[in-house]
Amino acid sequence: MKATAVAPSNIAFTKYWGRKDEKLRLPANGSIAMCLSNLLTTTTVEFSPPLKKDQIIINGVQETGEVERVIKHLDRIRKIAKINLRAKMVSNNNFPSGTGLASSASGFAALTLAAIKAARISLSEKQVSILARQGSGSACRSIPGGFVEWLDGDSSETSHAIQIFPSNWWKIANVVAIISQKRKEVSSSIGHQAAYSSPFMTTRVANMPEKNKLIKKLIKKKDFKKFGELIEKEALEFHAITLTQNPPLIYWTPGTVLLMKLIQKWRDEGLLVYFTLDTGQDIHLICEAKSVNKVKAKLTQIEEVKDIIVNTPGDGARLSKKHLF
Ligand code: DP6
Repeated sequence: MKATAVAPSNIAFTKYWGRKDEKLRLPANGSIAMCLSNLLTTTTVEFSPPLKKDQIIINGVQETGEVERVIKHLDRIRKIAKINLRAKMVSNNNFPSGTGLASSASGFAALTLAAIKAARISLSEKQVSILARQGSGSACRSIPGGFVEWLDGDSSETSHAIQIFPSNWWKIANVVAIISQKRKEVSSSIGHQAAYSSPFMTTRVANMPEKNKLIKKLIKKKDFKKFGELIEKEALEFHAITLTQNPPLIYWTPGTVLLMKLIQKWRDEGLLVYFTLDTGQDIHLICEAKSVNKVKAKLTQIEEVKDIIVNTPGDGARLSKKHLF
């Protein structure tokens, strides 16, 4: 059977960086994120008897660097479904991949849901999230929609994401500023493995439960200023780890730094906007929905900003009838 799923990317307000179990992809700490309305992956999977090997096409290209990880993920689903059929998978992002926009999150969330349906197995949302996590950690947060928490857990069964607030809870926005469409040189997957080589990692991990508690409280209270201050500090703390791990990872470009400084300046001038950023040069500007037009107007004046994508809190992974083949 053929099945198609659409899944959102998500932006982490507190970051997943480093793992306590590499094989199971158990994160060093829990994290809080928001699913994004306009950064989407659509994936169609079909398990089919005539196929001799898996056929993986991502954004129109066969044999990309992700093929091995995708096949491994299909194997997990074949094992649960007790089938031995090869699959054809076609997957498209509506945004640039590998630039800090969490393409592996939406990609593995869509793949998981589509493959489960194509293999005719039925799993609970928790089980789908657990399965997605094993493909790419942050993908588990793209299964439930809205504001989500990844419970770090100490076993595979306890490490999954849950919705903490629905998408209509808070009218905030994530305005993505694309600095460049160039792929990052070192993937998050590789970066995670060296996180504990930073001398600051142990302190960070010890403080994360308290930080997560606080961020949930601020989302609940809709205290945008305190929330913004906290997520910006958290993004910088996460980059303090990447910069001090061995070998160090510098994900910023001059355009990234320029924009970070401008955002702080715009704030001083009265525009309530904060930034967060993952492993890439692109920046996620977080503001209240009512400020989106002002933020966009500022960004369009900056030569280094090549594109702008506006997101509101979005739904989680869902099935679709629009197959890609
Ligand atoms: C910096 O989920 O891409 O975006 O589990 O190896 O696929 P893998 O890593 P991935 O890591 C995302 C790291 C981050 C922070 C975050 O999204 O929490």
